[in-house]
This record gives sequence, C-alpha cells and structure tokens, in this order.
Amino acid sequence: MKHFINLKDIPSSDLRKIIEDAKKRKIKRKKFNTLDIDKDNPLKGKLLVQMFEKTSLRTRLSFYLAIKQLGGGTITLKASELHLGKGGESLADTAKILSTYGDGFMLRTDSDEKIEEFSKYLTIPIINGLSPSSHPTQVLSDIFTVEEIKKKPISKLNICWIGDSNNVLNSLIVASIKFSFNLNVGCPKNYEPKKFVMDWVKKSKRKINIFNDAKKAATNADVIFSDKVISLNDNVNKAKKIKDFKNFKINSKLMSLGKKDVTFLHCLPRGSEVSDEVFLGKQSKVWQQALNRIHVQKSILLYCFGKLR
Ligand code: CP
Ligand code: NVA
Repeated sequence: MKHFINLKDIPSSDLRKIIEDAKKRKIKRKKFNTLDIDKDNPLKGKLLVQMFEKTSLRTRLSFYLAIKQLGGGTITLKASELHLGKGGESLADTAKILSTYGDGFMLRTDSDEKIEEFSKYLTIPIINGLSPSSHPTQVLSDIFTVEEIKKKPISKLNICWIGDSNNVLNSLIVASIKFSFNLNVGCPKNYEPKKFVMDWVKKSKRKINIFNDAKKAATNADVIFSDKVISLNDNVNKAKKIKDFKNFKINSKLMSLGKKDVTFLHCLPRGSEVSDEVFLGKQSKVWQQALNRIHVQKSILLYCFGKLR
C-alpha cells in the first residue's frame, strides 16, 4: 500500500503511471453509465472512508464515484461527529479503528500535521484531499486534463498561474519539477510562493519564473490557471487581499497575451479573480477539468491499493 500525501514524495514514474492508467480507463468507459463498474472490478469489496474537515463538492463526489466505479464503496464521516473531533478519542486509536474497518482513508483537513500523524498510525493508505499546503489530487488531475486538451506531453507546454500562492499552486510548482514543464507565476508583490516550496525547487536544480506583473506571466502561455484569491484556510484581511490582487484578474485582454489556442483552467469554486466572459467562454475547459477528477482519483486509488497495472 502507498500513501498519497504530497506529489514531492511520489516518484515521477509513478505519477506518470497514474495518468496513463486514467487515460486508458476513461476511454474504456465511454458508453458506461455513471455508476457502472469497470469491467475488471479491481477494488471489489473495498471501503474508502472519507472525512472532510472543510467544505467540498468536487473532491467528495469524485472520490465517491471513483471507488464505486472500481467496484468498492465509500462512507463519508463528519469530523464534528467523531470522538476525535470533540477531543474524546486519540488520533492513534481513531487511526487503528479506521484501519480495522476500512481499506483506505481520504482526508481533507486544515492541518498538514494531522495527515502526517494519521500516516504514522494507519495501516491503510491515506490520501490528502486538500490541506493548507497542498492539493495533490487536484493538480495531478489537472496535468491529465492539460495533456488531454493539448494532445501533447505537458513538458512541451508553457503553463501559467495567475493568482494567490496557495495550496493548489504549491502542488503545481512541485508538478512542474516532476513533469518538467515551464511554469510562469503571476502574483502581486508579497504574495510570492512560500519559502518551503522555493527551497524544494532550488534543491531540484530547476526553476520557475515569478512575475509581479500578470501580463508578463501570461505572455505566450498554452494554459492559464487560476484559483480563488481567498482560500478556505485564509485568515487574512479579505478586503485588503482582494484589493491587492486587482491587477491580477483574468479577463479577455489578459487571455489574448497567451498563445492563439490558450486554455483557461480553474479548480473551482471560483471567486472574482476571473471574468464571466473568460470563465464561461470558449477558452475555458473548467467543466472537463472538474469531471476528470473522477478518472484520475480512480488511478490514484489503484496506486494506493497497490493495484496499478
Ligand atoms: N476543486 C476542489 O477540490 O473542489 P471542492 O473543494 O469542491 O472539493
Ligand atoms: N485554494 C482553494 C482550493 C479549493 C479547492 C482552497 O484551499 O480553498
């Protein structure tokens, strides 16, 4: 069994395997209904326990459908209804019980430490379904979507991120090293990527390009990504932060600086960082991006369960 906590800890060859498996599985399901089980039924009888300490729509549904389509089932726990949440049971004992009843654990949490703690005590795989520092399942799925749309390896593309230096960007930065693609980040001064991510980039001997000018970052992009300026864990002066990002809104003018066939992607939910014209326009592939989460979650689950072909 393998955990899926951070992209940086997973070899590039395994990440690539997950994407290739998702491609094959997606093609094979073309005529299937939503709840039809894949022919090989690889996770027959397996239970994925999901727990959300923060709100979620896509991650919740895509993991539900992913395990179902692989032949297994899922139950979603509310953190507030567990003894753990009320301080009445230790994390170690909770982990033991999760490992006794379930076969895999997907956790969305506001504490990176909690995921690490769980990984110490669980004897089943844990998947990070978003933490303050990363959103690895989202970004791996986004690599899949980019290659599906552009029909070429992401290493041949210019990827741009306009927005906050948050968990999704952290994972995208790690992915840029793992998959060797060019990454331009456009963000206001004082909102640049965190030191712990940049230290890791330095160690890898690759680099990313950071601009305090959205136009420079977007120039010649094949894909422009964005995300909310205010994230779930953001404890900031919201009005000030939104004001600080006023020159980093993705509108048609900014998109026109990218390549002719530039694509807009966004993990959702959205805020005011993108205009309706772009978000709902032809260049936007956000719905395809959201749907692909199911296909990639499936191959992530197979990887964790040691069943990836
Ligand atoms: N993109 C994403 O993770 O969406 P949810 O927060 O709805 O799960
Ligand atoms: N950066 C966002 C991603 C939501 C899927 C957040 O953490 O709220």
